[in-house]
Amino acid sequence: ADKERMIVVSNRLPIILKKRKQKWSVEPGAGGLVTALSPVLKDRGGMWIGWPGTRGRINLSGLRKILGPISEETGFRIVPILLENGEIDNYYYGFSNSIIWPLFHDLEALCRFQPQYWEAYVRVSDKFAAVIAKHSTEKDIIWVNDYQLILLAGSLERLGVKRHCVFFLHIPFPSPDLFIKLPWRKQIIDELLRFSFLCFQTHRDRRNFIDCARSFYPACRVVGRGAIVELEIKGHTIQIGSLPISIDYKRFRSMASAKEAALRSREIRKDITADFLVLGIDRLDYTKGIPEKLRAFARALEKYPHLQGKISLFQLIIPSREGVAEYGALRDEIQKLISEINGRFSTTAWVPILYRYGTVDQKELVAMYRAADAGFVSSLKDGMNLVCKEYCACQTDYKGVLILSEFAGAAYQLRSGAILINPYDVEATADALYYSIFMKEEEKKNRMRRMCKSIRERDVYWWVNNFLRAAAGKELKDFPEA
Ligand code: G6P
Repeated sequence: ADKERMIVVSNRLPIILKKRKQKWSVEPGAGGLVTALSPVLKDRGGMWIGWPGTRGRINLSGLRKILGPISEETGFRIVPILLENGEIDNYYYGFSNSIIWPLFHDLEALCRFQPQYWEAYVRVSDKFAAVIAKHSTEKDIIWVNDYQLILLAGSLERLGVKRHCVFFLHIPFPSPDLFIKLPWRKQIIDELLRFSFLCFQTHRDRRNFIDCARSFYPACRVVGRGAIVELEIKGHTIQIGSLPISIDYKRFRSMASAKEAALRSREIRKDITADFLVLGIDRLDYTKGIPEKLRAFARALEKYPHLQGKISLFQLIIPSREGVAEYGALRDEIQKLISEINGRFSTTAWVPILYRYGTVDQKELVAMYRAADAGFVSSLKDGMNLVCKEYCACQTDYKGVLILSEFAGAAYQLRSGAILINPYDVEATADALYYSIFMKEEEKKNRMRRMCKSIRERDVYWWVNNFLRAAAGKELKDFPEA
């Protein structure tokens, strides 16, 4: 039989839209998901449906005109859904990013449980469903991505539209103790159970989901074990997976191996006076544990004074969700901390923390990864975290050390090579930093080789293929033990 056509749905389209001098321009996004899905979409046919990230009045037909040529480039069609200002505030900044995002990252105190957020969340889901219904048939597979669109299978059903819907959650799923704080907890569980295949990043997230579902349906039963299990619940069976998302390993590796990257990384090192360079790259987000990372770094300088003048941290912060108040406050907190630490330790020849707030292109990113002696990821909770995988892929000489939070989804896969830390533990994190600096080269290389092997074997293509195999009820492939 012919493969099903694939309709990918996500809140944000994989494109970058810019407005310069009243004129819109658009480029394909550089994310791992679009790189991995492009070949599949080209092969099966299909499209990507989502919000282009725009606010305010924008002309849909004008937008379609500029998206046409992009489809030539990406090889699949891009269908934009525009959101009104109220929808952006209540559905995107509201329910998605001021309720689900903090709650699912275990930060219940940051949640604002506003009823109007829920209403908008339902309404926008219905809006997405209407567009999907128009562009798809019963034979297509509808792949819904992430927490912004949990209600989509239900929205389609309520429209009376029968579709094969599958879902991947990119962020963590919380434990029942946290989840039950959500006023709409029962609805969220019931809506997730409408998908025929539900997939999480890790076993931990899947276990949490099943525990939450069981609290409403105590008679449910889990059959099987491993990456895909069956959940018998409410009189039917659904597949539930645990598959870690990844990166295009080969692409990062070959970019990092290029001469240009070598030259640029040497330039970066020449500008930095410290012998040992630690790199942090995070989207501005309170889940990333950036203040915790800065405090641990400062503690290491204090506890081991001979490190002063010898190590620097380069922290790149990528702007994000500027409409949520907590994000602005976090930026202020980070900048204040950095200036305090630099004010305390700097000398005329050395600055402990180098900081950039903004975006850099992929070439520069790869050169930075390559230039750094250690990568430092300190998330308080993270669905997977791809920065740590990218950092490893760019260690062409295997000499870099990865310091990784045990609360990132990636910690399980990379546990045999990374220096795992609890970012809440300042003393132990400072010690881990110290240990990384003085680790023998032999050990560094062994650790990095192990991580690279795992990332190479389970790259983003492996993830996509296995997700789609599971969604089609087939056996998984290439499943080396982690
Ligand atoms: C996380 C989420 C994604 C989201 C991304 C960027 O990785 O899992 O769904 O797209 O952050 O956030 P934004 O709100 O800018 O789309």
